[in-house]
Amino acid sequence: GGKGRTLVLGCVLHFLDDPGDAAENGPWELFERGALVVEDGHVAWVGDRDALPPRHRGGVVVDYGDRLVVPGFVDCHVHYSQVDVIASYGRQLLDWLQTYVFPVESQFGDANHARKIAGFFLDRLLACGTTTASVFPTVHTESVDAFCAEARRRELRMLCGKVLMDREPFAPPFLRDPDVDTARAQTLELVDRWHGVGRLGYSLTPRFAPSSTEAMLRMVGELRAQRPDLWLQTHLAENTAEVKLVHELFGGRSYLDVYDRHGLLGPRSLYAHCIYIDDQDRARLAETGSAIAFCPTSNLFLGSGLFDLHHARAAGVAVGLGTDIGAGTSYSILQTLNEAYKALALQGQPLSGHRGFYLATLGGAQALDLTDRIGNFSPGKEADFVVLDWNATPELARRTRVAKTFTERLFALMTLGDDRAVHATHVLGRRHHSTHTIPIPAGR
Ligand code: GUN
Ligand code: ZN
Repeated sequence: GGKGRTLVLGCVLHFLDDPGDAAENGPWELFERGALVVEDGHVAWVGDRDALPPRHRGGVVVDYGDRLVVPGFVDCHVHYSQVDVIASYGRQLLDWLQTYVFPVESQFGDANHARKIAGFFLDRLLACGTTTASVFPTVHTESVDAFCAEARRRELRMLCGKVLMDREPFAPPFLRDPDVDTARAQTLELVDRWHGVGRLGYSLTPRFAPSSTEAMLRMVGELRAQRPDLWLQTHLAENTAEVKLVHELFGGRSYLDVYDRHGLLGPRSLYAHCIYIDDQDRARLAETGSAIAFCPTSNLFLGSGLFDLHHARAAGVAVGLGTDIGAGTSYSILQTLNEAYKALALQGQPLSGHRGFYLATLGGAQALDLTDRIGNFSPGKEADFVVLDWNATPELARRTRVAKTFTERLFALMTLGDDRAVHATHVLGRRHHSTHTIPIPAGR
């Protein structure tokens, strides 16, 4: 037996729901001597290795010792076109876009350039344990083709779609849709080329309200209504100057209301940042099934503000994590959690290791409406997972050794971990990234 079967041994953790503040007996499964059975790229069984049913035995064994095996990380908001923007000094959002982002994004009409950057970007994600992301390219169709081709080569589950931008000055002449009809035609052509191809999904991507005309937002709302199988991604209420500008341009009760009245809310609609929203906005996001991407390294780096996780979750809004490269400062979801903890600590909202790893995995899958495919190790799901090393750095090794409980160790890993803690990343069961040669014991 064992054709196309791999038995992965390690300390296995996955989530069935949001653990909230629970430190014990939350909605997760932890198998310290765990086993994950992968058959033809999908999870066939997960549990304690001593309880492995005979029908799942046989095949290749990969023994990761006491390393932590968790579902692949989900990055709910990131710009692959901003690889070379990361760590640009001294501006807040609107100036930062004009000064640093737009000149860099203008190069993505060049297919070769786009392809090179997409390859670099995806390899960095894999090195950090991220296997699914919701990704902004640029306004150029070439930037979508390049990204989707590179994601497909790596067999990654990814969401992406051409950026739509047609209003000055946040769509400058060198980075702008010529008109709404062309933007619609290009979008539909890319949907045909990539949506549902392999593991790719298409996201309608109006950059944000200030770079959109009413006609563009209306067009996106029409497409969204015609094609509820597509995703939608944009930015919402990131910065106070941006919020003020949106009010001047569009009026309305709130920033969210501008998107709402164009029909952009609903399942598979993903809003990045959401710092300056109120309870009415949260209720509206929740009742429409829209989701939020929480991007702490970006929010701190651009001095944007502090996202209120507690009130978003209490209102019932799905929340995932975003690195938001290039405003964000790390490709690592572990580092993103480290910063999330600090941003929340400033608001008196502690974030446990368990809740952090939930947000990084199942929470992200819920925000992207991908729980039928990824997010945990329920049998039948795609076997994307990451193997983390408790001893990756001297400080992490010391801290996890003196920790008395698994809960403490998990929090230390979330706080001190980064790409150095990623021992291996598997996509559909196959190892796509590894920092080490892994000895595979024979004859088990
Ligand atoms: N708002 C509109 N465009 C962008 C972008 O590229 N990055 C961030 N962080 N916010 C935006
Ligand atoms: Zn962004």
